[in-house]
Amino acid sequence: MMLCLQTAAELAQKIEEYKQAGLTIGFVPTMGYLHDGHLALVSQSRQNCDVTVVSIFINPAQFGPNEDFAQYPRDLARDKVLLERAGADILFAPDTAEIYPPDNSVRQLRADARLSAVACGLTRPGHFDGVVTVVARLFDLARPDKAFFGRKDYQQLRIIQKMAEQEKYPVQISGCPVVREPDGLALSSRNKYLSAGQRKNALALSRSLTEAARLLRGGQAIAAARLCMQNILENTPEVKIDYLEFLRRPDLSRLTDYEPGNTVILGAVYVGATRLIDNIEV
Ligand code: PAJ
Repeated sequence: MMLCLQTAAELAQKIEEYKQAGLTIGFVPTMGYLHDGHLALVSQSRQNCDVTVVSIFINPAQFGPNEDFAQYPRDLARDKVLLERAGADILFAPDTAEIYPPDNSVRQLRADARLSAVACGLTRPGHFDGVVTVVARLFDLARPDKAFFGRKDYQQLRIIQKMAEQEKYPVQISGCPVVREPDGLALSSRNKYLSAGQRKNALALSRSLTEAARLLRGGQAIAAARLCMQNILENTPEVKIDYLEFLRRPDLSRLTDYEPGNTVILGAVYVGATRLIDNIEV
């Protein structure tokens, strides 16, 4: 039976019991409205840890004033069924006052400046500060041995790894592969916002990334790969580019020349009002 907990105190107590019993704790933080990308993280955790804790918390601190915090999709009843079926041991679904007590005692962290100087760090100012702050708070409560994040949010993964290292959390952070629909669209809770027509147009993002990767592998320059992406995206109705970045792995510095095996192409687009991100490692 999966345990559903809502308060920080209940979670901390249960975790203490597990620790006393010598069990290893795997942690999967999410904002809910779960899909197979999230469930793949749960499965990784179950394979690698004795106990799997999943959190569902839509973190207001990582949304900008004009972003979709209020509309962000939620369906806790459905998420519970999916997690129970996936074999999670604990669902932690707190409300905002549990994560950010009104006494302001939660440590506000800043995301690493270099890793957030590109991509989403530029077009969503403050976003990654909100992410590292909530993840540190959740780590303090769940005290995981291992935590599982998706490579779908590649920049987020790197920034969280850096935070964990700097804050000396004794946690091993795994980056799990991007889970996609059969046609290539990366799974995202935000895909729910798309109409059928927009859903088709949204495919241009993953298609442009695979095309750019193919060009780089075939010996073309980054400038040519970027142009190809722009062509695909600008010729797709309803699509507007937020950014396209060609970065070095793992430090996320901007590349002028392709470095085989050390390159990640990150793309963010609007499809109508919906902002989607994706990436490919080349
Ligand atoms: P959320 O968008 O719900 O994603 C939770 C986790 O699922 C993240 O690690 C994300 O990278 C992973 N994920 C999402 N879509 C995926 C896909 N298609 N394939 C593989 N993994 C995927 O990311 C967040 O929430 C929040 O920023 C959070 C880390 C919970 C902090 O609030």
